[in-house]
Amino acid sequence: MVCLGNICRSPMAHGVFETRVRDRGLDSCIEVDSAGTAGYHIGARPDPRAREEARRRGYDLDHLRARQLEAEDFEHFDYILTMDEANYRNALEIRPGGARARLHRFLEFAQEHPEREVPDPYYGGADGFVHVMDLVEAASDGLLDHVCREHALERVS
Ligand code: 4NP
Repeated sequence: MVCLGNICRSPMAHGVFETRVRDRGLDSCIEVDSAGTAGYHIGARPDPRAREEARRRGYDLDHLRARQLEAEDFEHFDYILTMDEANYRNALEIRPGGARARLHRFLEFAQEHPEREVPDPYYGGADGFVHVMDLVEAASDGLLDHVCREHALERVS
């Protein structure tokens, strides 16, 4: 899960998707991580507003620390999911030639929402984090369905 700072959107996506994977009993098959295209906040915990909205919905982000996206991530992971178009373009620049990872916009997997970008909530109020969480929950469900289908994983409820 990739955004700009790795303290708001991508940690929320990380926490939600990780929880969905664990709830399906797939945590031994699917590794989840997040990163930012910028290095401003390396080592920082998620923004307190992101942690609060996550906690309210039953997700724990307290173990997460910001890091920067690296070329190596495109070899290690199968999917790189970007939150907005700027993140997508930046990720394309970091991606090494012939990399194995598939690069997608995360909201491709949230077809019930008209938005195609997860808006940056950093400079706004708490309601922005509520909206991010709505989008991230929908995209996480769609992504998990897609991954299970593509890789013939059994969903254990
Ligand atoms: P994120 O939000 O990309 O969702 O983590 C931001 C966090 C920090 C900044 C911008 C966006 N910043 O400019 O420091």
